[in-house]
Amino acid sequence: MKLWGGRFTKETNQLVHNFNASLSFDQKFYEEDIAGSIAHVAMLAKQGILSEEDKEAITAGLNGICDDIKSGSLVIDEEHEDIHSFVEAHLTERIGEAGKRLHTGRSRNDQVALDMKLYTRKEVLEMDALLKHLLQSLLSIMKENTDTIMPGFTHLQKAQPITLAHHMGAYFEMFKRDRSRLHDIYGRMNYCPLGAGALAGTTYPLDREYTASLLDFYGPTLNSMDSVSDRDYLIEFSSAMSIIMMHLSRFCEEIIIWNSNEYQFIEIDDSYSTGSSIMPQKKNPDIAELVRGKTGRVYGSLISLLTTMKGLSLAYNKDMQEDKEFVFDAIDTTKGCIVLFNGMLDTLTFRKDKMRASAEGGFTNATDAADYLVNHGVAFRDAHGIVGQLVLYCIDKNISLGEMTLEEYKAISPVFEEDIYDAISMETCVSKRNTIGAPGQEAMAKVIEINEKYLAES
Ligand code: ARG
Repeated sequence: MKLWGGRFTKETNQLVHNFNASLSFDQKFYEEDIAGSIAHVAMLAKQGILSEEDKEAITAGLNGICDDIKSGSLVIDEEHEDIHSFVEAHLTERIGEAGKRLHTGRSRNDQVALDMKLYTRKEVLEMDALLKHLLQSLLSIMKENTDTIMPGFTHLQKAQPITLAHHMGAYFEMFKRDRSRLHDIYGRMNYCPLGAGALAGTTYPLDREYTASLLDFYGPTLNSMDSVSDRDYLIEFSSAMSIIMMHLSRFCEEIIIWNSNEYQFIEIDDSYSTGSSIMPQKKNPDIAELVRGKTGRVYGSLISLLTTMKGLSLAYNKDMQEDKEFVFDAIDTTKGCIVLFNGMLDTLTFRKDKMRASAEGGFTNATDAADYLVNHGVAFRDAHGIVGQLVLYCIDKNISLGEMTLEEYKAISPVFEEDIYDAISMETCVSKRNTIGAPGQEAMAKVIEINEKYLAES
């Protein structure tokens, strides 16, 4: 069934139909389309625009269609232009005349704007729940590893000793910001476009506040032209998803490096690894690589959507139909990646011995050796130079700073005493760094407590 055949004298060219149709992808929100229609007819009846009997018949018919699609007894075929036409055609087929009254005071422009918002709103909440699970996993790793020494890197070169709790804590903050971005988007988008009509409202006495409240919106949108042509929330959501994927890709990159034969900081569980068809010894981090790779796909959605919306005059233009496939794909991709990442993280093993040995081997305590000299009256610039000499000496002898004898220390600077060994131990290097946000155990305990409270409250 076509919703607009009246003024046409010719059949639509088949290629035009195919090109114009959106049913293949907008069927994804059939439940939202039906929920929106049920709220719409409830409002029409309350306002006396539709009889109670028609409302009852339409509501029952729509619920039946929803159940039948869900159970598979009603198959969404490609003959219709979009999900709106499909539902209306089946409704009229099932309940007769009353079905034709469903679209009173509504246009597909405000209808599709509503459907997409309802769908996106639900997905924003689902994504938030997945991120919360990830944060819970991270926090439990943090709690167990406030003493697990590992090297911290800059330029992918060993820099200073940190703890595994501290490293995981960095990702905790990133994903926490991602959740906060989702909350912001929800707050800004949660206004109902239904009742905006094609672009200029309607002449019927609609109660837009009522439909907005039935559908759990904060209220109705305030400009009917903006209502049907606003896709900002999809752009914002794509942007938030791009940032989530960027964060996941950084985490995946580290997991790939840490899982490599050279590092061996972690071992990805067999259930989350894959093998090679030719090299029997291989165990590859494909999941982490795929998540990293899929990041580009989600960025693509953001750029495509921004480009689609660029320069569009008010109000609705058919270009906007292109908002769906990108966003659906980005949502499915991002959710899938978070789920797989969660599973991989929950099952991998941290090789604490390897992490510690690596921290000890890379002069990560050199800054602390310089600080020791400063604490004994040497100017920092001179201290930096002296420790540089110590490092050179150690490289030449293939030993660590902790393995030098006191005589060797004193030969380079007489300021060094027996307590240098304690000052540059991995434990001291970490536990002395206790400004909030630093890896020291006292600081970490405070951060863990703050983040535990955050998870309990949101
Ligand atoms: N399939 C369309 C879309 O996704 C529905 C709105 C159609 N409106 C119109 N004026 N042709 O945007």
